Amino acid sequence: MKEKRGQWNSRLGFILAAAGSAVGLGNIWKFPGKVGANGGGAFLLTYMIVVAIIGFTVMMAEFAIGRKTHKNAVGAFAMLNKKWKFAGVIGIVALFIILSYYAVVGGWVTKYVITYLTGAQFGNGSNAYATYFTNFITSPVEPILWDLLFLGVCIFIISKGVSAGIEKVSKVLMPGLFVLLIGIAIRSVTFPGADEGLRFMFTFRLEDLTSDMIVAAVGQAFFSLSVGMGILITYGSYLDKETDMVNSAKWICILDTFVAILAALAIIPSVFVTVGPDGLGMGGGFAFVALPHVFETLPGGIGHIFGLIFFVLLLLAALTSALSILESLVACVSEEFHISRKKSMAIMVIPLTLLSCGYSLSQLSTRGINLPWFDFSNGFQMLAMNAVMEKLTDNVLIPLGALAFCIFVGWVWKPQNAIAEIEQEGVTFPLKKAWSFSIRYIAPIAIIVILYFTVVKGIV
Ligand code: PHE
Repeated sequence: MKEKRGQWNSRLGFILAAAGSAVGLGNIWKFPGKVGANGGGAFLLTYMIVVAIIGFTVMMAEFAIGRKTHKNAVGAFAMLNKKWKFAGVIGIVALFIILSYYAVVGGWVTKYVITYLTGAQFGNGSNAYATYFTNFITSPVEPILWDLLFLGVCIFIISKGVSAGIEKVSKVLMPGLFVLLIGIAIRSVTFPGADEGLRFMFTFRLEDLTSDMIVAAVGQAFFSLSVGMGILITYGSYLDKETDMVNSAKWICILDTFVAILAALAIIPSVFVTVGPDGLGMGGGFAFVALPHVFETLPGGIGHIFGLIFFVLLLLAALTSALSILESLVACVSEEFHISRKKSMAIMVIPLTLLSCGYSLSQLSTRGINLPWFDFSNGFQMLAMNAVMEKLTDNVLIPLGALAFCIFVGWVWKPQNAIAEIEQEGVTFPLKKAWSFSIRYIAPIAIIVILYFTVVKGIV
């Protein structure tokens, strides 16, 4: 069954929608935790270099493939060169796993929205926020209900059509999120004692430059920019020929990185002030524990309102990202198997739900409750299912997908064809020589090196 492909309504709409896919839980839930766990300044610098060179390179490649073929990730490869279909498939598998855990964390955010809405009571004592958060995410049933709600909303929205919703939401969301994050960051960095956190974030210490850190930076950059999974092929496929993809890609990289750094500024100094350097090990819980604390310190009870607005915006940011994933999955399954979008959603929903529940239940391991079928040993350490899912996507599948895209565009389809696609309707690509070099050599070699590190250290 052939359904009409949508198109973006405006150029700004495209940048915002792609930024809507990029900016999400990765920036606020993952990024500050990674900065904290990987030594601060060294990670931050490596991350920015990776975004500017490798992230941008792969992003341009995806846009070009998408607009050239007007197809989803798998279909695009099938059209350009049948043998490379697997490149699209790797991305799709990664997206499927990501969506299943993204929905769990989206569910946590939903829970926080409701908590603030109903007059948040997080309990007392210095550990109140951390205890509240851990108790919640490690309970067996409640997080799953929020998870299913989040997933259900995504499915509902996607079943209503392509760009209309995503574009509109992103137009309001991005500026709102910016303003609020800037405000929170200012509050956080002006706490007495915040300078320690700032020093941590902005001092480059050579000893932090480890292979683990570099693997984490690359995985995080790809995840955060939504590159390497074919998402941006799908997005590019809805582009008209006049849109300047170079400019769009540049802005998406800048916006996404800016939001991530703002989130780290909002969170890390306040972690230093409240918990001290030990709090850096908190990882993924950062946003849920540190930010409510920042809100609490705001005068005159406005903290609750701030908390509410912040978590609503975070929820919307999570939604736009999750929608971009689901849209890609649906576009791919329906176009490749020639079935309706509704049918393809119906096929995916059960495996998605099961995987999602597994991720949520494996949080119980934080409490020392190890459900046997949710634990894996990789020969190096015991890992709970949640850690396996995150590392498998960030450190293995996404880099593999990105590598395949680079080799395909650099050596099979050839950079000049991509450049011809990019340079249409009077658009010039000033960096085309550098980009060609990067897509053929720099990006693939860098990715091979980090995949090697990952494998040497035992897959995940
Ligand atoms: N980039 C999004 C974020 O940072 C997540 C995402 C991953 C979106 C993969 C699409 C594909 O939250």
